[in-house]
Amino acid sequence: MSPIQHDSPRRDLAETGNKSHGRPFLRWAGSKRKLIPVLQEYWSDSYGRYVEPFMGSACLFFHLDPSAGLLGDINAELVECFCQVRADPQAVHEELATYGHGSDFFYQLREKIPEELTPVQRAARFIYLTRYCFNGLYRTNQLGRFNVPFGGTRTGKLPTLEQLTFAAKKLNSAELICSDFLGTIERVQPNDFVYLDPPYWVEGKRRTNQYGPKTFCKDDLSRLKAALEHIHEQGAHFVLSYEDCDEAREISGSWHVKQVPVRRNVAGFSQHRKIEHEMIATNIA
Ligand SMILES: C[S@@+](CC[C@H](N)C(=O)[O-])C[C@H]1O[C@@H](n2cnc3c(N)ncnc32)[C@H](O)[C@@H]1O
Repeated sequence: MSPIQHDSPRRDLAETGNKSHGRPFLRWAGSKRKLIPVLQEYWSDSYGRYVEPFMGSACLFFHLDPSAGLLGDINAELVECFCQVRADPQAVHEELATYGHGSDFFYQLREKIPEELTPVQRAARFIYLTRYCFNGLYRTNQLGRFNVPFGGTRTGKLPTLEQLTFAAKKLNSAELICSDFLGTIERVQPNDFVYLDPPYWVEGKRRTNQYGPKTFCKDDLSRLKAALEHIHEQGAHFVLSYEDCDEAREISGSWHVKQVPVRRNVAGFSQHRKIEHEMIATNIA
């Protein structure tokens, strides 16, 4: 396999000279920031849209700065948050600026009922809770209420107005949809680039439902495998990342595959790190 190289410098850095602007504004469990140097090699500016059906914080999208995108996720609060940042980054920032700091404020905000808030307040609450919750997880109780505990304040800063404004500008070129991944993949067109980063379902591993109940399970593996075939048949390009495991080998079939070492925190504690392998499968020759 000879991965495609960048053929132009990324616009975000060229325009602003500020690296932090290209960072995602959201802290999100499973973010692929550490894999960006590997993933970006598959991208070419000659491709059509950038499509990400499991978008999470969309860190690769913000880094690559494509001229058109289609971003989808099953998490409605996440997608609404992106829509609000795109529509009015200043309002979201003004709301965040009224927030306190520390555990007491975190739990007060967590207790608020999202349906009783405005869309801007919900977006700011989502950004705040995921920034300061344990491990950046998104988990809900039986009633669908966010229930991840406070994780401390050493998990980075809330986004600045500049970061939110920058994200809004980038998102203007993207369509955002709340959908199961197949709904997004059905809309793939010839020459699109599709990056798939699903939650990992691994036989025998303890699952923490880190993206909410009924989001991705064993039955979805065969749907994911069929989705790769569909993307290829459409004449589009795909890159899939998955934990290197038996399930990954089953999904990746006869596509081009490589293993990449990544350093992970054990159970969310940065002082305990281990090296694991990520599998990348692609139809890009
Ligand atoms: C590993 S995260 C993606 C992280 C993202 N690549 C990033 O860098 O931030 C997986 C995402 O898949 C979403 N998800 C889970 N099940 C899904 C499904 N069936 N269809 C679409 N999205 C799903 C979760 O809400 C989560 O945001």
